[in-house]
Amino acid sequence: MTMTIYEALGGQAGIRRIVEAFYPKVVKDPLIGPLFPEDIDPVIDKQELFLTQFFGGEPLYTEQYGHPRMRARHMHISIGKEHAEAWLQCMYQALQEVGVPEEVVDPVMERLAGSAYFFVNS
Ligand code: HEM
Repeated sequence: MTMTIYEALGGQAGIRRIVEAFYPKVVKDPLIGPLFPEDIDPVIDKQELFLTQFFGGEPLYTEQYGHPRMRARHMHISIGKEHAEAWLQCMYQALQEVGVPEEVVDPVMERLAGSAYFFVNS
């Protein structure tokens, strides 16, 4: 039996728990926290839709917001390698906090690292 990462994370409900653990860490992070809008709730909702799609669930983000073009959507933010690392560190901690099994954490982090470093634009 082969499972998508999406299924291994517990589907959309599992992804919701992860983003709810993730953004409080992001907001508190001294480097990347200040980049985010004061009202983080819309970002949490969008990330839930995006990661659902990204990890093999229904294309919920595209249905609501069109083609992700996620690198382009980050171009108005100045992102260096250190920002990508801080983002990934918050995500790693969120995955630990939510209790995602280690064998799932590895492929999740690998895929997100690919995107995070791809978004580096300065
Ligand atoms: C590399 C470090 C990253 C930084 C510093 C960063 C920063 C941000 C910021 C500041 C926003 C809010 C923009 C706004 O509302 O004005 C945002 C939105 C978002 N980010 Fe990132 N991000 C990073 C990496 C990632 C990665 C790796 C992903 C997913 C693979 C991701 C997915 C998203 C999504 C889905 C949104 C919402 C997009 C929308 O408005 O529709 N980000 N990001």
